[in-house]
Amino acid sequence: MPAEKYSSTPNSGLLSDIDDIIRKHQNRDGALIDVLHDVQALYGYLPEQAMKRIAEGLSLPLSKVYGVATFYSLFTLEPKGQYVIRLCESAPCHIRGAVQVLSAIEEELKIKPGETTPDSKFTLEFTSCLGVCGVAPAIMINDQVYGNLTPEKVKEILRSL
Ligand code: FES
Repeated sequence: MPAEKYSSTPNSGLLSDIDDIIRKHQNRDGALIDVLHDVQALYGYLPEQAMKRIAEGLSLPLSKVYGVATFYSLFTLEPKGQYVIRLCESAPCHIRGAVQVLSAIEEELKIKPGETTPDSKFTLEFTSCLGVCGVAPAIMINDQVYGNLTPEKVKEILRSL
């Protein structure tokens, strides 16, 4: 995805992209979720201007569009960083040191879960089991999984990005 689209605010050209997405899905069951999914894939999040356009395009109340977008955790209303760090908070990772890994990330990046660094480079989130409990504690950064983490190791990984 082009970087300029990833974090930009929609302009008229990009709104026409949203209109194309709406046309592709309208009149189908579940159109709203499909439209939200595609718009988020385009921008990396669901900007306010896009939400209004989706409500108009699908003839839905804006409150309904927000209701669905905030109900499903896969949707986000805030722009995310270039690297999205998902820290597993399920029991096996917790027992094997996820709290210490979290502290190291917070110390290195100066952000808490749910926040993005001011330079938009990193976003930190919690996730449930990543399916790699054998190498707990684990995190995922974008599509890459990192396991057997220690505070030192996670700091090294972050500094290498
Ligand atoms: Fe963390 Fe499974 S519990 S990867």
